[in-house]
Amino acid sequence: MGRLDGKVAIITGGASGMGRATSILFAGEGAAVVVADLNKDGGEATVRDCKENGGRAVFQKTDVSMEAEIKAMVARAIKEFGRLDVTYNNAGIGGAVGPLENISVEDWDKSQAVLLKSVFLGIKHSVPEMRKVGGGSIVSTASIAGIRGFAGLHAYCAAKAGVVNLTRSASLEFAKDKIRINCICPGGINTPILHRNQPGGREAVEEFLKNSQPLPRAGHPEDIAAMALFLASDDSMFVTGQAMIVDGGMTVGASFGRGGGDGGATGIALPPAGFVGPSFEK
Ligand SMILES: NC(=O)c1ccc[n+]([C@@H]2O[C@H](COP(=O)([O-])OP(=O)(O)OC[C@H]3O[C@@H](n4cnc5c(N)ncnc54)[C@H](O)[C@@H]3O)[C@@H](O)[C@H]2O)c1
Repeated sequence: MGRLDGKVAIITGGASGMGRATSILFAGEGAAVVVADLNKDGGEATVRDCKENGGRAVFQKTDVSMEAEIKAMVARAIKEFGRLDVTYNNAGIGGAVGPLENISVEDWDKSQAVLLKSVFLGIKHSVPEMRKVGGGSIVSTASIAGIRGFAGLHAYCAAKAGVVNLTRSASLEFAKDKIRINCICPGGINTPILHRNQPGGREAVEEFLKNSQPLPRAGHPEDIAAMALFLASDDSMFVTGQAMIVDGGMTVGASFGRGGGDGGATGIALPPAGFVGPSFEK
């Protein structure tokens, strides 16, 4: 028995990275999946893999920044599979990067449209269908950039912080309808959004990410898919309005010194163990 048996899910950004891994996992857990993306070839490849994993899936070409296309995406789920239980608003881009003074208004608006307006639209048009079936689960991909600042990522940080707090406000409004609304804040996850333009590609990013957080390996799309499955399934029945951090410990805190059981990071030397008393005592 699958954890999503009988459920119908829409996954945006399903052609690549986290959305692709989540589509395949959901299909294997019994969901019928609408893979929504701008990228037709990638989306159709995901559909093939969903079917190979024993599930049902269709591709719907969608620009998540356009209201008419989000409406069509929801309508496709109803037409193909008759109901909607889960929407995963996951599609994303890097958006406008670099010094704030160099960002054009046009690039700023485009970033917010793909990263934040899309989530508003995904919630707005999913809710009426979920009410009809007595509830549902809406999950969105935010980022640790929605809870921390990152240099040179102003538009992205602002949009992802918006996703985190829209998750909270919407969860309050739709709790009475038994529609749960949560988001995921990934840390560094080795997907094309990160490795596409990097010298050394996927392997170089894998190596870099290994040393970027306390857990000594890179984050992978399957790490996010596992959290998305928890939030989509009835296992998280009493969870709403939350931003679930999946970052290998990146945002937990900083290591202050060497020794002292802190993982041996660089910095001031601490005694390996024992008690540190008042500083005037030797
Ligand atoms: N990779 C990371 O380290 C990381 C960290 C935090 C958050 N995120 C977020 O995770 C989500 C998934 O990204 P990913 O890492 O899997 O990257 P990815 O590039 O592999 O996947 C993103 C997908 O979104 C699609 N997409 C982009 N713009 C679209 C649009 N307007 N309409 C429809 N589809 C569109 C792309 O075609 C692609 O298939 C994004 O929201 C991203 O911001 C990524």
